[in-house]
Order: sequence, then structure tokens, then C-alpha cells
Amino acid sequence: MYIGIDLGTTGVKVILVDKNGKMINSVTENYELLTPRPLWTEQNPDDWYQSTLRALKKCIQSNEEKIKALSFSGQMHGLVILDENDQVIRPAILWNDQRTIVETDYLNQHFTVEKLLAETGNVALTGFTAPKILWVKNNEPENFQKIKKIMLPKDYLVYKFTKKFVTDVSDISGSLLFNVKAKTYSKAMLAFLGLDIKQFPLVLESSEVVGELVHEAAKELNLPQSVKVIVGGGDQAIGAIGTGTVNDGDINISLGTSGVVFVASDNYSVDKKSFLHSFAHANHKYHLMGVTLAAAGSFKWWKESFFPHKSYDEIFNDLVKTNSDDTLYYLPYISGERSPLNNPFAKGTFSGFTANHKPENFSRAVIEGIVFSLRHCYDVIKSLNVNSKQIRITGGGAKNDHWCQMVADVFNIPVQKPVVTEGSSLGAAIMAMVGDGLFPDVFTACANIIKVEKEFVPKLDNVQIYQKKYQTYLLLAESVKPFFEKFK
Ligand code: XUL
Repeated sequence: MYIGIDLGTTGVKVILVDKNGKMINSVTENYELLTPRPLWTEQNPDDWYQSTLRALKKCIQSNEEKIKALSFSGQMHGLVILDENDQVIRPAILWNDQRTIVETDYLNQHFTVEKLLAETGNVALTGFTAPKILWVKNNEPENFQKIKKIMLPKDYLVYKFTKKFVTDVSDISGSLLFNVKAKTYSKAMLAFLGLDIKQFPLVLESSEVVGELVHEAAKELNLPQSVKVIVGGGDQAIGAIGTGTVNDGDINISLGTSGVVFVASDNYSVDKKSFLHSFAHANHKYHLMGVTLAAAGSFKWWKESFFPHKSYDEIFNDLVKTNSDDTLYYLPYISGERSPLNNPFAKGTFSGFTANHKPENFSRAVIEGIVFSLRHCYDVIKSLNVNSKQIRITGGGAKNDHWCQMVADVFNIPVQKPVVTEGSSLGAAIMAMVGDGLFPDVFTACANIIKVEKEFVPKLDNVQIYQKKYQTYLLLAESVKPFFEKFK
């Protein structure tokens, strides 16, 4: 049996699967999201570790002896720093934290966008790791001085389980310290930030074996020490493995806290116009992706703020009282926005309502606005000559069939929902299988494991309505830009 561990933003999900990928058990443990200031997000790495231990114990009980290997998918970009005694210096600064506006501008201007693209394949964005390190250097110099190890969230778990200081190509691609094309650290970036390569983990391909469990972890979990630990990768690459998005041109959409349009690519390429992320994939190749920061996160904010007593399904069911052909729009920029706007000052916006609009009309606008923002990312991908015949969908939002249908209608492309919609944890289990040698590579593993449950074919009437509405959405997104300038 194999274990997949998905270290997410709201919690950690641990799944146990058999060698055919059949789900035996699944346990989620949540942890706190700290927001010490508006738009700052932090978490305690020890909460990740303790929650992972708790979830693992519940998930594997009575199967301990059958487990062969485990692997990880992790929220990306987060900054974890350890001192000379291996103690965490300060809470981790997360992927959706927006405190690094000054540092991001500094890197883009002084290292220059051109050199960043040449060195790392990406420009500086507030979510990436390098601006966070620079922020610590500028604002907490005493903490910066203490740094002996810099790692990403899932690498902290790997370190606790194996005592090996390693990372993988997909996750470290989001650090802005890595030459994605050459798959080595960028010496120029490290030098610019005054960092030493010794402070960084050894980089592995995502399906590589890190080692065996250390004695304390094996004892705590009642697992044989021989259980192999495979490094795994960033949640987007591993989520894409979990839906079988591995061949050149395959597209995966993730409706998680953030929303992601991900395209697998055999070749390395850089988007010099809209700066889609150009990262290494977990299949030894590459991928491009656009990230809208608040997808299911926007919907969660909407539900918790205005419908705390309703379930997500009830909110969706209320949409029957509404009409898609409506004038009400929502821009989901409640956490600032990454792709394709790359504007941390962007704000959530409702527009086009009248005295006749009811709460459920606003719910529809929120849900549609999230899909339009994904389409906005896809348009950039299309402009790079990628044309997809089908889309796979994953993430919490993919559980809802109405939402999957809406994606098919807005994109005008069939959407396939795999049997397991939580792609990241399944992807992590697949990495464990490949690392253990059950399959020769992720391509073979995906061909054997991933099954499609349902296909959502675009409905012509809706396609026509959404094509028009999407144009208005773009107009609105463009016209509120000067308004966002006011928040600089
Ligand atoms: C990817 C990204 C998010 C986080 C969410 O670039 O920032 O998807 O990884 O977990």
C-alpha cells in the first residue's frame, strides 16, 4: 500500500491506496491560518508536522505492515527558515501572503525582469519565495542572520521524516532562485540576495527516493523503518499527476483555494508577456501555469461571510432561482491577483446590480467570476499556441457538478472529472508508487491509475451566453485597473 500526503493551506490530507490506486482510507486534519495583518498569511511548521502525524496515524491504522512508501504534495512558495539548532526561526510566510510588494518591485527593477526571465524563467511576484527572503532580510535582520536552512513547506515534513535536507524540481521552481531550464540554483540570484547555496536543499526529481523513515518517526507512527520516503512536489504539479495531466499540451484546472490553469509541456518555454509561471513538472519535463489567487477561496469567503448556515451545495441549489443571462459581475481579486494581472493591489469587485438582485444572484456572480478569471489565464495559454481538446479538473470545487459544467460552458471545451477529484493527494501516492518501482515512470502510472468518472460537454445555449458575458468581464477587469492604483 502507498500513502499520499497533501500539505494544503487549510489542512493536511493523507490518503492510503492499494497498488491499483484504489482508495482505502482518507483522513484530513486542519490547522490554523495566521493573519497577523491584512493580506499577511502565516502558519506554524510544527502545526503541519503534528497534524500530519495525527492524520497518518488515523489513516494507516491496522495496515502499518503493508505500507511500502509515502510521498508528498505541498502548498508552494512558502518560506520556512531554520537556525543552527534546526529550530524554526519564525512562522512560515505563505504563498498567498502579499507583504512583499516593495521587495518584488525591487527585484523586478534592480535585478531586472529581463535577467530574472533568463535566470529563472519567471518574474518576481509577491507569492514567490525569493521576495519573502528579501523581506526577512529588510525587516527582521536578526532572523535573517540566524538562517542556516531555507526550505519549502513539504520539504519541512520530508526533513522531519528523514532528516534529509532535500527538495524537488517542481516545488523549487516557484522559489525564483532556481534556473528552471537547467534545473540548478541560479548563482546570480543567490549572490544578489546575499545567500549561500549551503543554505538550500539538494534538488531531486519529484519521484526520487529520499531515504527511509528516521527512527523517531517510524516509532511514533508504528511503521517499519524500511518505508521509503519519496520527495514528491509542489501541489500544482502533483495535482496534475493526480489527474493524468502528463503529456505535452494536456490541461488541468484546479479549483482549490487558488485556481490554476496548468499545461504540461515537453519543452521549456517562457511567457515574456503575461508572465505565466514556467516551472519544472513532476514528470521530468516542464509546465506553464496561470494562478488566480482566490478561486474556491473566494467562494469560501462569500459563504462564510454571508451564508454561514448554508452548505456549499445549498448555495449552488439556490442558483436555479437565477438566470445566467444577467448583468451582475464579480471580479475575484480579494487577495490581490496573480495571473494574468500580476497586481497585488487588485481588489474584489461587484458590478452591474440593481434593486431587483437577490443574494442568490450575487452567489451566481461569485461562482461565475471565478471561472471567468480562470478563462482569462487560459486565453494567455492559448495565445502561446496551446489548443486543448479536453480539460481535466481537480480540487475541492471539482466535487460540484454544476461548477464543472460551468467550466465546460465558459471554456467551450469538454471537462473530464476523474474518479478521485482530490488530485494532489492521489498524485502524491502515485509518486510513492513510481519511487518504489511499482511503475517505471509517471506516464505509465497515470495510464494505469487515473480513471475518468464523468465528462461535461459544453451546452450550446450556455456557451453563447458566457461568450458574451466573458467579454464584459474582461471589459470590467480592464476598466477598474485605475481604481486599483488608488491602493498603492
Ligand atoms: C501555486 C500556488 C498555489 C499554492 C496553493 O503557484 O501558489 O497553488 O501552491 O497551495
